[in-house]
Amino acid sequence: MTEASIIDGKGFAAGLRERVSRVAADFEAKAGRKAGLAVVLVGEDPASQVYVRNKNKQTVACGMNSFEHKLPVETPEADLLALVEKLNADPAVDGILVQLPLPSHMNEQKVIATINPDKDVDGFHVVNVGRLATGLPGFVPCTPLGCVMLLKDKLGSLSGLDAVVIGRSNIVGKPMAQLLLAESCTVTIAHSRTRDLPAVVRRADIVVAAVGRAEMVKGDWIKPGATVIDVGINRLPPAEGETKGKLVGDVDFASASQVAGAITPVPGGVGPMTIAVLLRNTVVAAHRNAG
Ligand code: GUN
Repeated sequence: MTEASIIDGKGFAAGLRERVSRVAADFEAKAGRKAGLAVVLVGEDPASQVYVRNKNKQTVACGMNSFEHKLPVETPEADLLALVEKLNADPAVDGILVQLPLPSHMNEQKVIATINPDKDVDGFHVVNVGRLATGLPGFVPCTPLGCVMLLKDKLGSLSGLDAVVIGRSNIVGKPMAQLLLAESCTVTIAHSRTRDLPAVVRRADIVVAAVGRAEMVKGDWIKPGATVIDVGINRLPPAEGETKGKLVGDVDFASASQVAGAITPVPGGVGPMTIAVLLRNTVVAAHRNAG
């Protein structure tokens, strides 16, 4: 059995950030100001704090302005909505990202609906969801767009391929399926109620795993030669002598990499793509909104 080739998301993301930096410099020369991304974080969720710190660092490294807004966990929803309105009206802000999850007293859909769709660089607003579904230009959620970039880089045309997406979230599964459909794949969305998931996955030329269950997808579920994209980031319980458990994906890498043609590792696969695509969406927003 031949080993799968490893899809280098980390390297691809670095290349994408370089291209974004050039487009950001071009924007600054034309507009006389830097493109700007506003990131709003409510509360102190440790994973969200890490993401937001990385976003800010990478935004600045690409030559854009990063506007960070940290609000205490008990902030009333009305105050967050007022901040979003202020950012909508601010000409220095091209992209707005409200970090999810929000505290339970807030209505996420209402908050997202308040963001100007043309600054919604996450692609979560229903207007952008509708644009994606109907093939109109808009903003596409960063993680699935990053997955499609990796797939096209590896495979070229995806036309006619059988794709199985495991997971039906609004952030990954559903937009992933729309993007693959737009690439003329035959798309199946599988989820926790799918009957005989291994048999469904075995039909796929492309498997995208986004379920949030550590190492769920096994090597004997994979069609030989298939391309496997692992969106999962799960921390295993610490083994003996470890202080922190190992990070693993939704795919059992050891067995799947014996069967797949190509596979993304965790870490270093899809993960680094999300922020790189966010920066790409922001510079696209700047050019669109200024032009
Ligand atoms: N929380 C986890 N991933 C994301 C993301 O891509 N965007 C936002 N806004 N929140 C998230």
